Amino acid sequence: MSPVSVNDEMVAQRVRRIELSGIRKMFEAAPPNAINLGLGEPDFEPPREVIDGLCEAVRHGQNHYGPSAGLPELRDAIAERYQDRRPSTARDNVIVTGSGSEGLMAVALSLLDPGDELLVPNPGFVLYGPHARIAGATPIPYSLRTERRYLPDFDELERLVGPRTRAIVVNSPSNPTGAVFPRAIVDRLLDFADRHDLTIVSDEVYEEIVYDGPATSFWGRSDRVVVVNSFSKTLAMTGWRIGFLVAPRDLAVDLNKLHYHILACPSTPAQAAVLAGLRAGPSATAAMVREFRARRALVTRLLRNIPGIEVTAPAGAFYAFPRFTWPRTALEVATELLHRGVITTPGEAFGSLGAGHLRLSFATSRENLRRGLAILREYAIELAEAPAE
Ligand SMILES: Cc1ncc(COP(=O)(O)O)c(C=O)c1O
Repeated sequence: MSPVSVNDEMVAQRVRRIELSGIRKMFEAAPPNAINLGLGEPDFEPPREVIDGLCEAVRHGQNHYGPSAGLPELRDAIAERYQDRRPSTARDNVIVTGSGSEGLMAVALSLLDPGDELLVPNPGFVLYGPHARIAGATPIPYSLRTERRYLPDFDELERLVGPRTRAIVVNSPSNPTGAVFPRAIVDRLLDFADRHDLTIVSDEVYEEIVYDGPATSFWGRSDRVVVVNSFSKTLAMTGWRIGFLVAPRDLAVDLNKLHYHILACPSTPAQAAVLAGLRAGPSATAAMVREFRARRALVTRLLRNIPGIEVTAPAGAFYAFPRFTWPRTALEVATELLHRGVITTPGEAFGSLGAGHLRLSFATSRENLRRGLAILREYAIELAEAPAE
């Protein structure tokens, strides 16, 4: 039987405007047993309390629909975590989502009308641009350049903002750059958003995975902020799909309408499990971050020993984002490495300014990192010795 094919005309314009993520494409082409430096998820299991919490919830009948904005106890527990940023943060500010990804989609659909513009980081996480397009809006990339330590250029932002700009997406700690915005940059972004009546969509899913001191949250410092967050990374439960939004009350009501129409409600047993994890305290995340910190040092050291590579030690998340000087595109380099048995993500997957970079995830064992980077080094030495093309 021939495979069922989809006639182009069956598919809405908004689907034709978006592509499958470059990360997925790379991953799907990988040979078996490849060393995976492409993963965007912790190589740890969720804390014991979270696993026990899930089993218990399922065994004790928490298998049904719940409130669309999430279980009240979980919303309260999340709100409590945000009270040091804004003491009045309460349940009404919190919506539990079916992941950070769903939260981002609900935010894009709630904030953007067709024809609007959304400022998105370049390089930046792969969903921001497509979500804007799905909403009928136009993503306008703003630069995060290596020379500026992956921090925004405010002169450029002033040039990019226009009458249809509705919001700006910020992501600190950043995927893919690993940069964490210093407080002064957060303050300037808040001021920029204020002057131009923009909403700040702050993707803080890596906020607890930091190495040189805490990340400054955007929450609590303005009424124009929506925080997108997730338990995927901090509780090592990417497959469970639980995240949350923190937003001003009125906006939270509207976000919840969208969220209800996308998802009805987040998974009830997974929420019960997260609640058990929050009650158990931060020690599991802290242990994971300790290991990531050691790997960050290892990866940075090994990369600095590779000819043609330049790297800034990431201050957060679990990615190194080295820049190379070889006469190759990042896609060519990543493809050649894939043939040698190492999965990496080409920087272009994150936007045009990702060109000349690879994203290497250190959410894998130190042994894998050593082996993978030895292959990268060998490749670099061969390139350096090859006659000029
Ligand atoms: C910056 C960033 N935001 C959001 C997400 C979405 O995470 P999830 O949908 O698993 O909550 C990711 C996942 O890789 C990410 O890197």
